[in-house]
Amino acid sequence: MSETNLKSLNELSSLCKRRGFLFQSSEIYGGVGGCWDYGPLGIELKKNVQNSWWKSMTYRQDVVGIDASILMNPTVWKASGHVDGFTDPMIDCKECKARFRADQIDANKPCQNCGAEGQFTEPREFNLMFKTQMGPVEDSSSTIYLRPETAQGIFVNFQNVQSTMRQKLPFGIAQIGKAFRNEITPGNFIFRLREFEQMEMQFFVKPGTQKEAYDKWKEIRYNWHINNGMRAENLRWHPHGENDLAHYADMAEDIEYNFPHGWGEMEGIHSRTDFDLSKHQEFSGKSQLYVDQADGNKKYVPYVVETSVGSDRCMLALMCDAYRKENEGDKENERVVMKFHPRIAPIKVAVLPLMKKGGLQEEAQKVLENIQLNYRCDFDVAGSIGKRYRRQDEIGTPLCVTVDYDTLEDQTVTVRDRDSMKQERVAIDQLDRYIRDHLGF
Ligand code: GAP
Repeated sequence: MSETNLKSLNELSSLCKRRGFLFQSSEIYGGVGGCWDYGPLGIELKKNVQNSWWKSMTYRQDVVGIDASILMNPTVWKASGHVDGFTDPMIDCKECKARFRADQIDANKPCQNCGAEGQFTEPREFNLMFKTQMGPVEDSSSTIYLRPETAQGIFVNFQNVQSTMRQKLPFGIAQIGKAFRNEITPGNFIFRLREFEQMEMQFFVKPGTQKEAYDKWKEIRYNWHINNGMRAENLRWHPHGENDLAHYADMAEDIEYNFPHGWGEMEGIHSRTDFDLSKHQEFSGKSQLYVDQADGNKKYVPYVVETSVGSDRCMLALMCDAYRKENEGDKENERVVMKFHPRIAPIKVAVLPLMKKGGLQEEAQKVLENIQLNYRCDFDVAGSIGKRYRRQDEIGTPLCVTVDYDTLEDQTVTVRDRDSMKQERVAIDQLDRYIRDHLGF
């Protein structure tokens, strides 16, 4: 058996469109740059990724969750430095007006869009925050921003959460939510979006202990990706050198994934010092001090270690990683299979009556009803059984349960494993336990 990995994002995006994972936003109107809609299978996949993250981050005693609003008081973004500093350098081609990130192209070469030479404007700083208006009057006092990161919703709630949940340092606050950036060049499918989701956690620690927390969270976060089935050879650490550290960080490292278009950041682990809480204390006039009862009631602004991963980008990496083409060119045996970890797979079990007739569909329906409350199932009666297996392989369904004429006689079904394609006969009254053991979560 031969097996190849994903060669290009185009191959993946056409599978995603064909099989209902992702659609271009407002496609019937020609789409809108950097925005995508999740179809029925895409949303199952994304929710599985987010549930896995939420469980791993908040089902523990030292991290709690919140869900802050997207629109925040605009002073938040002044304090955080985003109004003045959240920019990318931008240049335009004078000939065709195409716009590029100045740090991503060589301005001495011809324009990649129209081929004109020596036609670029001088680089200018472009703020990536989307602006909108709040309330009925449109003037500068009503300007408000769509949040470009979820983290600030956590910082401004530090005191609320600490006091109501009676948390002692070190502890963390986790959140999953939308973020918006007016990226100059969105692209590479869902790698760089203008509307996306982040899964972020801020871990508040005593100043001086940030290195310990940073090392601990680096290990936890790396293992989370591995436990979701990511292949270690496609992951690597990228430490930020002193010159490329963000303005708020004293240590930072990214977990990068080996995407078909090259290595790219998937998650950032940042030691953010006391920058954000101190700035919010300064701009709001509200104390962000923590009273450390374990250290003689000493008062200080906590330091913060942040873990931040994009749901969409993580999902893209998981899809790239899961994609395999087997026996390419061999018509009989060729198949595309998404080898998702069962926890992540959008559909866990497909129930397939061998034929529509002879009472098989009704019998299969009964089997389905017994298991579909426990596992997200698919029910497919259309086409040959071989074609139906291939369809399930392509969306990464770990198990197919086939109901045939023997089922009517002996109350057993055939269970086919996605990866080995091995089939086993299982008694219907043992099916639920068999599935649970096999999926392993
Ligand atoms: N709070 C820290 C922060 O926002 P970041 O490195 O700018 O840090 C964190 O973003 C993560 O969010 C990235 O590692 C990536 O997974 C995701 N992300 C950032 N910009 C994105 C974009 N335009 N499209 C999709 N995901 C993005």
